[in-house]
Amino acid sequence: MSIPRRYLMCRPTHFAVTYRINPWMDPTAPYDNALAISQWETLRETFLGLGHTVDLIEPLPGLPDMVFAANGATVVDGRVLGVQFRDAERADEAPAYAGWFREQGFEVREPKHTNEGEGDILLAGDLLLAGTGFRTSHASHAETQEFLERPVITLQLVDPAYYHLDTALCVLDATNIAYLPQAFSPGSLSVLRQLFPNAIIATPEDAAVLGLNAVSDGDTVVLPVQAAGLAASLRAAGYQTIGVDLSELRKAGGGPKCCTLEVRP
Ligand code: ARG
Repeated sequence: MSIPRRYLMCRPTHFAVTYRINPWMDPTAPYDNALAISQWETLRETFLGLGHTVDLIEPLPGLPDMVFAANGATVVDGRVLGVQFRDAERADEAPAYAGWFREQGFEVREPKHTNEGEGDILLAGDLLLAGTGFRTSHASHAETQEFLERPVITLQLVDPAYYHLDTALCVLDATNIAYLPQAFSPGSLSVLRQLFPNAIIATPEDAAVLGLNAVSDGDTVVLPVQAAGLAASLRAAGYQTIGVDLSELRKAGGGPKCCTLEVRP
């Protein structure tokens, strides 16, 4: 049985692709804001249907990527580590998310180093898996371990298409993950194999539809509907799966997990 989760999401009211900070983004390509909103609503309703709580943060104009709430903080044991974005285009999201947590009564630790929240820092059991290479700085990993008091495992990302850890790796439950081996350096891959010998190995086809950008409550994995192969592997391993279509947000390089920040009490 899964424990009900508390998620923070941000409606893509102001979603757009107006700049390019990852290879998925093409500011000259068309996108449909109304469709982005309705697809996002379906994701939110899916979480509610699973019995989870969804809190909402007010979307701010001029911040088209604010829908990607995973990048707003890292919350473990009620401790909130704030974020610092690599790119100026997203910088103003950091105080917005920190402000939301303060309003809810949390203290927020302001980071000294670049870290993009749960985009790159994922809790797996007692461990924090931390990506670096594109966005979150290696220096921030030490800061994260010091503040959140969980062992941090540094994972080196090597493929620019998988610029955040949550595009290449999904935590399924306290003891297992799914990941794309090609997204990691040889040493990091060896560490993943040692820590998670029974991991589900995703294919390049699964990853190319952001299939690994999935949200698991331990029982049910909510993932992009296009990732049919990964969904089948997950079901064979005993998980339930729900496919959602976030085709519009994928044009910014985001999927279900990017839209979802877990607030862990
Ligand atoms: N366009 C956004 C960026 O490049 C997408 C962020 C996706 N978020 C995530 N958790 N992977 O920053």
